[in-house]
Amino acid sequence: MDRIVEIEKISLEDEKTEISLRPSDFKDYVGQEKIKSNLSVAIEAAKKRKDSLDHTLFYGAPGLGKTTLAHIIANKMNANIKVTSAPMIEKAGDLAAILTNLENGDALFIDEIHRLSPAIEEILYSAMEDFRLDIIIGSGPAAQTIKIDIPPFTLIGATTRAGMISAPLRDRFGMQFRLQFYTPDELAIIIKSAAIKLNKICQDKAAFEIAKRSRGTPRIALRLLKRVRDFADVSGEDEINEQRAIFALKNLGVNDLGFDEMDIRYLEILANSGNRALGLSTIAAALSEDEHTIEDVVEPYLLANGYIERTAKGRILSFKSQEILGINKEKTLF
Ligand SMILES: Nc1ncnc2c1ncn2[C@@H]1O[C@H](COP(=O)(O)OP(=O)(O)OP(=O)(O)O)[C@@H](O)[C@H]1O
Ligand SMILES: [Mg+2]
Repeated sequence: MDRIVEIEKISLEDEKTEISLRPSDFKDYVGQEKIKSNLSVAIEAAKKRKDSLDHTLFYGAPGLGKTTLAHIIANKMNANIKVTSAPMIEKAGDLAAILTNLENGDALFIDEIHRLSPAIEEILYSAMEDFRLDIIIGSGPAAQTIKIDIPPFTLIGATTRAGMISAPLRDRFGMQFRLQFYTPDELAIIIKSAAIKLNKICQDKAAFEIAKRSRGTPRIALRLLKRVRDFADVSGEDEINEQRAIFALKNLGVNDLGFDEMDIRYLEILANSGNRALGLSTIAAALSEDEHTIEDVVEPYLLANGYIERTAKGRILSFKSQEILGINKEKTLF
């Protein structure tokens, strides 16, 4: 299903704008104040000591700004950043090639780090701890271990699934940060400054209307902004005003609680369960989606905003969403 508030898959065009809109400094990175201040201190201290920064792990829902933070760190450390993702590191040799090509102080960003295979993780341990590679060549009695020194580097890991990272790997990250969903006010700031970069002025109220519907997620806010901008362009308007924003968002079928179609279907399944708690697998089957997507992409926002609750028996609707859904009055959102 194609969702305007689709968070996981991004088109090439969207990816290009994302890169151009990506803040390169903390001062342009809105929100996540605690993370920013902790990181700033750590970066300053590392620079003073002429040391590499501690390995850093970011976790949180898709589109909240993990990759962006990795780039800001490298920028602040005046370091190069090498970007890869766990599924691309299949063999020990792949990782060895990446690590031996690093320069002193470089940042290595590994996205989806929970997907590393155990064998690769094992190699990463000594690389992270001692900046040394232990590689076993051959097998059986003829097997040999070779040790290769690698330059001090900073591993930056990102994952949407903190629970899936093995404890030994997680423990080797000196800093670990969980990214929070953004408030509509924070998203409105992101939207307004992105609009300027897109050569448009987005009025305050318009920015807020877009922000409210962005599921607490900058990536969605930026995507909606671009679609709303199209509507303003077609109408020949230089500024994006509230009316145009509301009109556009309505046309795009975005609900004003920030729910997308998937959220609504999710909530309806719970609503139709007659107050029974439903397990993840049941919900996933009913939505024809895989469990990981439901758990990583759909549920975090609903949980963080108190629309659903997780009990020992399964998921249930919260009182808040029962009210929104008008349970016992009318059962659907639209
Ligand atoms: N705090 C922020 N301030 C301003 N813009 C932001 C912020 N966080 C994210 N963005 C914008 O949102 C876009 C998506 O962020 P990013 O790619 O860093 O998310 P992510 O957490 O890495 O997502 P994924 O889990 O899918 O990899 C960025 O290109 C950036 O333009
Ligand atoms: Mg990312």
